Amino acid sequence: MKFAVIGTGDVGRAIAEKLASEGHEVRSASRTAGGGRYPHAEAAAWAEVIVNATKGDASVDALRLAGRTNLAGKVLVDVANPLDFSKGMPPTLFVKDDDSLGERIQREFPEARVVKTLNTMASRLMVAPGLVKGQHSVFMSGNDKDAKRLVEDLLRAWGWKDIVDLGDITTARGTEMLMPLWIRLWAAFGNTDFNFHIAR
Ligand SMILES: NC(=O)c1ccc[n+]([C@@H]2O[C@H](COP(=O)([O-])OP(=O)(O)OC[C@H]3O[C@@H](n4cnc5c(N)ncnc54)[C@H](OP(=O)(O)O)[C@@H]3O)[C@@H](O)[C@H]2O)c1
Repeated sequence: MKFAVIGTGDVGRAIAEKLASEGHEVRSASRTAGGGRYPHAEAAAWAEVIVNATKGDASVDALRLAGRTNLAGKVLVDVANPLDFSKGMPPTLFVKDDDSLGERIQREFPEARVVKTLNTMASRLMVAPGLVKGQHSVFMSGNDKDAKRLVEDLLRAWGWKDIVDLGDITTARGTEMLMPLWIRLWAAFGNTDFNFHIAR
């Protein structure tokens, strides 16, 4: 398939490399195009699936650059978190409780089929869950069942076994609000080689 990966940080690079290694066609979108990076709108217009791997407080603006019509009808995989670093570490959440970044994105781009996933573990684990031993879980939130099925297939190809479909996009509140805990676990362990496991 054709993927546009928006954002070229650790997450965007990890996902773009993984998709390309699986034989997908990938265009990375950046504000600094060139050197194999495309302008947002060009990458999004070409792609069948879009990945939002941008800084949470810039995600809506970055997706506006991609263009509403270029996102319409397409699966939009959202891995961003609404972290606010303006007061230093640890960050707070700039949206929470009765709203989420995933919902903001879905409201802003109503014709996109937003699936929130992979936002609850470190970037290298996203595409290689086997780096952490034993069972552990990844979550999905989204309104469109077919979009979630496509994302589930992708996740299975990357080695994910315990894929928890939480329900519609409002359930992204739950996974985004895991971030304050994830950040404390990172501080306690001194590394990011861990993940949540939902035992049941
Ligand atoms: N790092 C992790 O392990 C991890 C794990 C789970 C979730 N996440 C979430 O995934 C997202 C990406 O994280 P990251 O660590 O890869 O990088 P990041 O530092 O959050 O930034 C990712 C990209 O956002 C784009 N960006 C920044 N400001 C922008 C603006 N004003 N307008 C448009 N684009 C802007 C930049 O792309 P260009 O400069 O190329 O345009 C940048 O490369 C974040 O929301 C993060 O919370 C990260």
